[in-house]
Amino acid sequence: MKFPIIGERGVFITFEGGEGVGKSTQITRLRDEITAAFPSVEVVITREPGGTSAAEALRHVVLDPSFAPMDSRAEALAFAAARADHVAQVIKPALLRGALVLCDRYIDSSVVYQGVARGLGINEVEQLSLWATQGLLPDTVLVLDLPSGTGLSRVKHPDRLENAGAIFHKAVREGFLMRAATDADRYVVIDASAPVEVVAASISAAVYDRHTGSQPI
Ligand code: TYD
Repeated sequence: MKFPIIGERGVFITFEGGEGVGKSTQITRLRDEITAAFPSVEVVITREPGGTSAAEALRHVVLDPSFAPMDSRAEALAFAAARADHVAQVIKPALLRGALVLCDRYIDSSVVYQGVARGLGINEVEQLSLWATQGLLPDTVLVLDLPSGTGLSRVKHPDRLENAGAIFHKAVREGFLMRAATDADRYVVIDASAPVEVVAASISAAVYDRHTGSQPI
């Protein structure tokens, strides 16, 4: 799907990666760049877990360290429940309006954090999320890659997941790279250890290449 996209199904791009890789900074930068270049395109920024009031309440439950320990299946179901509400109320309606949706984390976070790092199984967790979202997959997944120790050292107030330990977060990084290697059409791995401007340039090159047929100026 290419810009400008008014009147057609929109474009759905997700930002994925481990802790402290700089997703939120990069999402805002991409939004600003696209808005300047394509003023007619509606850009929606959203995040998971969250995006609706029920999903934000579930976010509180899954991230608050005071709820540790939580059973891994309960955790996976809570993320999937939040995602179902988010897709139904925010993402699908935006795509139907023809918007560009930039989402901070989505199904791949569940597959990697719960399926791989928690050991619940890739297929099981993916199927759960596909059921929750009625099969909605992103057009492009940008995986911001950084050694897990580097990312974690940037986190100031660790939440329940960030407290999960070095082995867990190493598995998260490897899980994202493994996912990206399975489908080069939908996944783009971005070196997030580069300076912010360089990371931003790699992201816009990937997005322009896939969705505009041109290159950023
Ligand atoms: P957040 O504060 O949004 O972290 P970040 O800035 O790194 O995105 O917290 C989200 C946390 O929840 C993060 O540790 C990843 C985790 N998570 C899962 O384990 N499964 C999921 O499906 C999602 C969406 C997030």
